[in-house]
Amino acid sequence: MKIILKALELKKLLKDETKTIGFVPTMGALHEGHISLIKKAKEENDIVVVSIFVNPTQFLEGEDLDKYPRKDEADKKICELSGVDILFFPNASEIYEDDEIRVTAPDIRGYVLEGATRPGHFDGVLTVVNKLLNIVTPTKAYFGKKDAQQLNLIILMVKQTFMSVEIVPVETVRENDGLAYSSRNIYLSAKQREEALKIPSSLYKASSMISKGIKSTQEIKDKMIDTLKPLEIGYVEILNCNFEYIDEIEVGNTIILVEALVGETRLLDNIWL
Ligand code: PAJ
Repeated sequence: MKIILKALELKKLLKDETKTIGFVPTMGALHEGHISLIKKAKEENDIVVVSIFVNPTQFLEGEDLDKYPRKDEADKKICELSGVDILFFPNASEIYEDDEIRVTAPDIRGYVLEGATRPGHFDGVLTVVNKLLNIVTPTKAYFGKKDAQQLNLIILMVKQTFMSVEIVPVETVRENDGLAYSSRNIYLSAKQREEALKIPSSLYKASSMISKGIKSTQEIKDKMIDTLKPLEIGYVEILNCNFEYIDEIEVGNTIILVEALVGETRLLDNIWL
């Protein structure tokens, strides 16, 4: 596995590559969720590139940028063992200059849900993903459905800026008890970890109501809010796959999303039905 620190060095290396390139952008502290993206990229491409970059521009003032988990050595081992060909490990000055052209998220889709509580967060995500896709010029890039709004906005950016990359959505990987893997799970105490299970429980509840034929999104949201008690809820929303609010469940075109605070830790989860 090659480890490359310099953006232009990586760009030069991959510029004339005729083999297919699968790309998995991450912020490190790798877990089974990241590994499943890497596995899928390996299955579908000749070369796999992973980036590890804790992107400062997607953290707002007062968020956990400084305490975001960093596990550089373990991450390198995981990449090596997962058969990654190139690990891109830049520092911030490789990616950003002082006075920058920025990509901004669209007004509506970028400022609901996550974007409502974290205004500007998706500007940072899109800015860095835009840069990373231009550096790596992959055939396909892999993103988790767990970050549904991020995925939706990246698909939109690629379409609207006529990029050639194919964005591949990957299913959410969960721990045995149902909690979705997240780099932030390590912040949870044993008791909080228990409480956090209310998040997947609320989604299972919704899915079982839908399988019983309940269609009203309000009725389902009310039940979910009940199931999440006493967690502090960021949002519980039911949208179609275009991220538009719906009153009735459309099976095959529905995403149910939850954000809840467990202690100080903000956790996201969703299911696609
Ligand atoms: P990070 O949180 O490290 O996630 C990297 C990728 O792994 C994202 O596409 C995310 O959706 C996916 N992922 C995380 N948990 C997952 C799980 N349990 N199952 C499946 N996939 C999962 O998302 C980011 O980094 C950043 O915003 C980034 C896109 C790298 C831009 O900085």
